Amino acid sequence: MTLQTIVETAALDAFRLSLFSGGKKLAFVPTMGALHEGHLALVKQARQNADSVIVSIFVNPTQFGPGEDFNRYPRTLTEDARMLAEAGCDAVFLPNIATIYPEDFQTWIHNESLENQLCGASRPGHFRGVLTVVLKLFNLVRPDVAYFGKKDYQQWRLIEKMVADLNVPLKVIGSETVREPDGLAMSSRNRYLKPEQRPAAVAISRGVKAAVEKYKAGELGSQVLISTVAKEIALQPAIAVEYLTIREQISLAPVGDSIKGPAVILLAARLGDLRLIDNMELNPSA
Ligand code: PAJ
Repeated sequence: MTLQTIVETAALDAFRLSLFSGGKKLAFVPTMGALHEGHLALVKQARQNADSVIVSIFVNPTQFGPGEDFNRYPRTLTEDARMLAEAGCDAVFLPNIATIYPEDFQTWIHNESLENQLCGASRPGHFRGVLTVVLKLFNLVRPDVAYFGKKDYQQWRLIEKMVADLNVPLKVIGSETVREPDGLAMSSRNRYLKPEQRPAAVAISRGVKAAVEKYKAGELGSQVLISTVAKEIALQPAIAVEYLTIREQISLAPVGDSIKGPAVILLAARLGDLRLIDNMELNPSA
């Protein structure tokens, strides 16, 4: 199968129409490129559950803050296209900046309750940029189903909420985080990790895993679980924790002292210039 490259919206409409007339189900995976196995897992899952798969690659300027890495965000288009073709993707959508943000662009999507919490607290405007571009991409592509990684847990939940609140006519699926063999959650930015930073980076997932194991063994005290993660990370002086918290899975509301329902451990940390995030769900056994 050959991968179609689509830049103009007219070509996108024609692609969409060819499926629509055949009653086919279209799955969509929005990305910023610099693809890795985490992205490809979404594509493969989409491939299994739909007739046709389209991936977008657009490094969205509005979700990067002033001091952030928009300019040096990795751009590896040739390699991305090869990986997508291999993964059985049908089309890649590479919108121009003018398609997404024409000069007179004015309208933004906000989630006033959640956009300034967790990652939003240290990245003002980030989720405004994410929600706006994702809704625009949904409206351009008009998929039946869209796949997001649980790696970006808050992003996934905010998109689910936007789709529910605004009656966006598609289904959102959250896909499990893909990790390196040593446990590090895959990320396009991991290529900037220096070899000597690796042991410190790995301590993050090791700490969260240790807390999940304690939870599975019956520990429900949120402070105990948080300390379990914090202790492991404290062994790595190069890591500065930005937030480390346990929240309810859907609402992302703080849990009390004792965890009652489905919860998730979420954290962000700085390691040199890099900002790493990770999370793991705490699911009560049936
Ligand atoms: P990007 O970071 O390229 O990620 C694209 C999708 O891949 C997101 O849904 C993300 O959660 C998922 N993903 C990344 N690493 C993953 C991993 N290790 N395991 C599973 N899934 C993973 O997230 C964005 O782009 C942007 O914010 C976007 C939604 C495209 C809006 O611009």
